[in-house]
Amino acid sequence: MLADSDASLARSTERSAEIEDAIATDPSQFRILTGDRPTGNLHIGHWFGSLENRVRLAEAGVETFLIIADYQVITDRDGVGPIRERVYSLLADYVAAGLDPKKITIFTHSSVPALNQLLLPFLSLVTDAELRRNPTVKSELDDTGDRPMSGLMLTYPVHQTADILFCKANLVPVGKDQLPHLEQARTVARRFDERYGRSVDDHPVFPEPEALLGRSGTILGLDGSKMSKSKNNTIELGMTADQTAKLLKRAVTDSVRHISYDPTNRPEVSNLVNLAALCLDRSPEEVAADIGDGGGGGLKKLVTEAVNERFAGHRARRADIVADPGQLSAILADGNKRANAIADDTLDEVRRAMRMVY
Ligand code: TRP
Repeated sequence: MLADSDASLARSTERSAEIEDAIATDPSQFRILTGDRPTGNLHIGHWFGSLENRVRLAEAGVETFLIIADYQVITDRDGVGPIRERVYSLLADYVAAGLDPKKITIFTHSSVPALNQLLLPFLSLVTDAELRRNPTVKSELDDTGDRPMSGLMLTYPVHQTADILFCKANLVPVGKDQLPHLEQARTVARRFDERYGRSVDDHPVFPEPEALLGRSGTILGLDGSKMSKSKNNTIELGMTADQTAKLLKRAVTDSVRHISYDPTNRPEVSNLVNLAALCLDRSPEEVAADIGDGGGGGLKKLVTEAVNERFAGHRARRADIVADPGQLSAILADGNKRANAIADDTLDEVRRAMRMVY
């Protein structure tokens, strides 16, 4: 028998395929909310894990909201860090990647008071036991070592629910680690309707949002461990070709000359093969066969060229955008204005449903 989480993953995977079909038929039935925490610069893991998918969905015609979750930065650390630089860095990568700020609403969490106010009624709809058993919160807390659980860490799935529901998004592209949060968001939407009712009688205030699972298989860091900014094992999207070459020269391989794609027995080599394959839109087996007896040197040469070629356009656009900070702040101001208008409307509806109109 499948464990609960396996069964739910299987269900979500199946449902995601149905949703993809529905998007192809009529994208206007969906609204997407997704986003990132501004904790550092985006890297190629983010590109293949989420950015590329966001661009595809927006181009398919799905209305998209993109949250830069600045408040969420302080769930697992003491300070906000160089937050302003990081917010603008995210924004630059979004725009360079082709997420068009005229069509997509890009906004910062802390700039939308009505969104944050949703947290109050939402918190009344969850129990502390429910939050404590959220497996993602648990593992994120574990990752911080001996940190005690802060109130913000414990309740961040509810915060994230507000991020999704303020604009009534019904679709959230996520990795499988975020499925518990989606379940929490669905529960809050449903309980709000049961407990507080509706502002007009015919439909619930909030939709129950669904997860859209992206392609699985993560890219590892250049040392073969999880790709992470703090481990200094990432290739950032904004790096130059030279910086990329230097980093890849240091990448871990093994001593077998013949290159093969064998993730179980040769994780580091296979990770590099996979990265090249993703950049070249080819299969990893083909790429490995091409390198053949070229060894670690041949592999690194090929990956370096593949990465630098794939991201040359992105990097050039990014550099232009970064050179014009006025343009970046104008984009954010516009996105925040739009997000605030929608959040104000939603909060009004919540007040009407809760009879708090005075
Ligand atoms: N937790 C997400 C991350 O760490 C960022 C995020 C904040 C988010 N609010 C969200 C993602 C709502 C999806 C939906 O990257």
